[in-house]
Amino acid sequence: MNFSINQNPVTQAAQECLVVGIYNQPSFEGELKELDEQFEGYLTTLVKDGDVSSKAKNVSKIHTFGKIESKRILFVGLGKQKELTFDLLKESIGVASKALKEMKVSSFSIALDTFVSEEMVATDVAHAFTEAFTMATYEFHGYKKKSNEPEVHVESMEFFTGFDAKEVETALQIGSAFGNGVNSARTLVNTPGNLLTSTKLAEYALELAKRYDFEAEILDKEEMENLGMGALLAVNQGSVEPPKMIVLKYNGRDEWKDVIGLVGKGITFDTGGYSLKPKDGIVGMKTDMGGAAAVLGAMEIIGETKPEQNVVAVIPSTDNMVSGAAFKPDDVITSMSGKTIEVLNTDAEGRLALADGMTYAKHQGANYLVDVATLTGGVIVALGEDKTGALTNNEAFFEQVLEASSESGEYIWQLPYTENDKKRVRGSEIADLNNSPGRAGHAIMGGAFVGEFADNLPWVHLDIAGTATTKGKYELGPAGATGVMARTLALLVERFEPIQSK
Ligand code: BES
Ligand code: ZN
Ligand code: ZN
Repeated sequence: MNFSINQNPVTQAAQECLVVGIYNQPSFEGELKELDEQFEGYLTTLVKDGDVSSKAKNVSKIHTFGKIESKRILFVGLGKQKELTFDLLKESIGVASKALKEMKVSSFSIALDTFVSEEMVATDVAHAFTEAFTMATYEFHGYKKKSNEPEVHVESMEFFTGFDAKEVETALQIGSAFGNGVNSARTLVNTPGNLLTSTKLAEYALELAKRYDFEAEILDKEEMENLGMGALLAVNQGSVEPPKMIVLKYNGRDEWKDVIGLVGKGITFDTGGYSLKPKDGIVGMKTDMGGAAAVLGAMEIIGETKPEQNVVAVIPSTDNMVSGAAFKPDDVITSMSGKTIEVLNTDAEGRLALADGMTYAKHQGANYLVDVATLTGGVIVALGEDKTGALTNNEAFFEQVLEASSESGEYIWQLPYTENDKKRVRGSEIADLNNSPGRAGHAIMGGAFVGEFADNLPWVHLDIAGTATTKGKYELGPAGATGVMARTLALLVERFEPIQSK
């Protein structure tokens, strides 16, 4: 899709539809006033009579009866100027984007400046627009036979604005990079496990590397054996699909230091192994690589926006299957770090894969670690399906993650992580760690286990088991994969400040 900037008065808009922001305020100002004059004051009447709503997330479509060249105006309610957050703006644009999609227009104009206020600058509006539009109109095409109905896609957006065209254009580009990163993550998560194997995931990462000039390394089973990655290999034991350790490096600074390691759980399907999931719990486990998808989505955004930072993305990937060769409860395995692990539950496989992922990220020079994973059902019980659970060993680093998440609108809630929690994951009679210290606080146990492999590096754990997918459609997307954390991770990287007192 392409977008253009038009610096003429918005009354000259000539596309199929003109999108206009409308705040809840006593009278029209600026371009809205000019448009109203074109309509001999009828827009004021429409608002007064409630045919056009200025409430946030409400949209109203009118026919222009030749008063301006555009055949229709789509009003986007924005509520009170002081109450409009970046989030709410994106949601409102999301609702409008879905309406535009319904209208099957192939091109439309946007009166960008009608969205601008003292609280909301033009570049933020521009970013919000392309990000929200890209996300809200996302579709997973699936595998149904094609219908004969011709599909209509938006091909061009024309932004009317009196603000600096270059700056607005850059912001449009950034917003669209964010939206596309999320959508790529969604598609990976929505793809079934038979079609998205670890090998395919690795191929996808290599394509990204080629497109953005990342350094890439894919470790195969033999290389993992040589490096002693006994934890990831144990999870893979029951599978006919080879495991992959996927590594991408983005070097945006002169020196390879202050490196942020992003480690994503890449379980392409989780049966639970011998600790088999019940038949209802197993459905949907194609999404168990949501952490990997978030990391790859973030890397796509990073590739587009090119921040001056260093990042290493590490994705330990396999499926978790049952067979005569599969690992079993009571097995003791040795991770790459040298720590031994008593396996009490083969369904707590994500933390095993992540253990070697974390260690390998450190080997690749990571100084800071963020792991992202659909790790526990427990986090859903604790926080619901709209909040990502977090654990950290470093409040200052967590603060940066939290700030990125509040900017992206992807909620994070920190869980406690105490000495007692550490004691529990270290509580094994015969090994250094055990992978399942019982149901109590098991979202914390999952994170605490991964934390054993951070050693003394600043580390944040993000459990997205509840947030990686959604049952219903929402303002910024359809039901299914959400692509959660792709934007937060990209923003974290962009804004990252090394922590002084490590
Ligand atoms: N992949 C699951 C977690 C999950 C549950 C993701 C629901 C998405 C939706 C994970 O591997 C798992 O099975 N965790 C167990 C851990 C337990 C055995 C300690 C769980 O949460 O029940
Ligand atoms: Zn599991
Ligand atoms: Zn899992």
